[in-house]
Amino acid sequence: MKILGIETSCDETAAAVVKNGTKILSNLVASSIELHQKTGGIIPEVAAREQLKFIIPVIEKALGKRKIDALAITVGPGLIGSLLVGVETAKTLAYLWQKTIIPVNHLQAHLYANWLEGKKPTFPALGLVVSGGHTDLVLLKDHGKIRWLGGTRDDAAGECFDKTARVLGLPYPGGPAIAQLAGKGDPHAYDLPRPMIDQANFDFSFSGLKTAVIHLVRKEKNIKQADLAASIQAAIIEVLVEKTVKAAQKYQAKSVLLAGGVAANQELRRQVEAKLTNLFVPSPQLCTDNATYIAANAFFDFKPLTWKKIRANPSLSIEEVIKS
Ligand code: KG4
Ligand code: ZN
Repeated sequence: MKILGIETSCDETAAAVVKNGTKILSNLVASSIELHQKTGGIIPEVAAREQLKFIIPVIEKALGKRKIDALAITVGPGLIGSLLVGVETAKTLAYLWQKTIIPVNHLQAHLYANWLEGKKPTFPALGLVVSGGHTDLVLLKDHGKIRWLGGTRDDAAGECFDKTARVLGLPYPGGPAIAQLAGKGDPHAYDLPRPMIDQANFDFSFSGLKTAVIHLVRKEKNIKQADLAASIQAAIIEVLVEKTVKAAQKYQAKSVLLAGGVAANQELRRQVEAKLTNLFVPSPQLCTDNATYIAANAFFDFKPLTWKKIRANPSLSIEEVIKS
């Protein structure tokens, strides 16, 4: 079965054709990131307008001359304006082409990047979804059987990278910029907090870390940028690794899946790999937003819906696909 995946939840306009949930036949991503770099963050209205420019050309290119069996569309969570562009386009195409359409949750879908390369995960699987807007630990008992174990109470891990990078005068998105600088710095140079690390739950909090960095930069005149970048990265990663390993042990996970933009971080990958043998991490280009995993998710958790019932939902939780 060939599924055309469409993803427009934030600032990427993406379309991909995936066969049987595992084989990528095409993968197109257009990004408005350069515009957002100028403003140091995403302006939702600008992102939505850019989605409108890219959506048809990206779908056309991803399709080529291929015949597809179904469409998969990200219905949430995300920015409402951006989501609406993809959702309404997908519904229109499903109606016109008389094709099956499957609504997909963007956060659950990130995990499906782990089904697109080489070895496949087995259940129960523990998932850590770390992106610009979310930090969630989930237990996947099977396809479509997902349980939320914990998540951030304030800023997401990616958001912490992005906001502290801004304090350091680094470009948006902050994750790759901090990671690059961190490679030249000492992770022990600055003593930063590891919020909630010792608490017996699977929740996270990153806003205190961000505030600590702001205070430090205000107080110290001679900040060594690379050292601070390395210290920020080390603090974020230590909490993520600690809680992921604990959850994997508690739930006796047969596979541990990293997913989301922050999973592209090499140091995070290295540290989790050192502690867990059953780890799955997608290639960096499949960690950040694209439509391959939207199509893969739809194949494995195949729950078609009439186009009339499909709606964009910006505040969907990781456990839902359609709000009742
Ligand atoms: O999943 P994603 O592409 O978009 C969302 O759904 O949010 O994640 C984007 C986030 C940004 O916060 C970005 O700074 C972060 O992923 N990111 C990284 C790296 N590459 C992207 N964070 C740390 N290290 C990286 N190498
Ligand atoms: Zn994402």
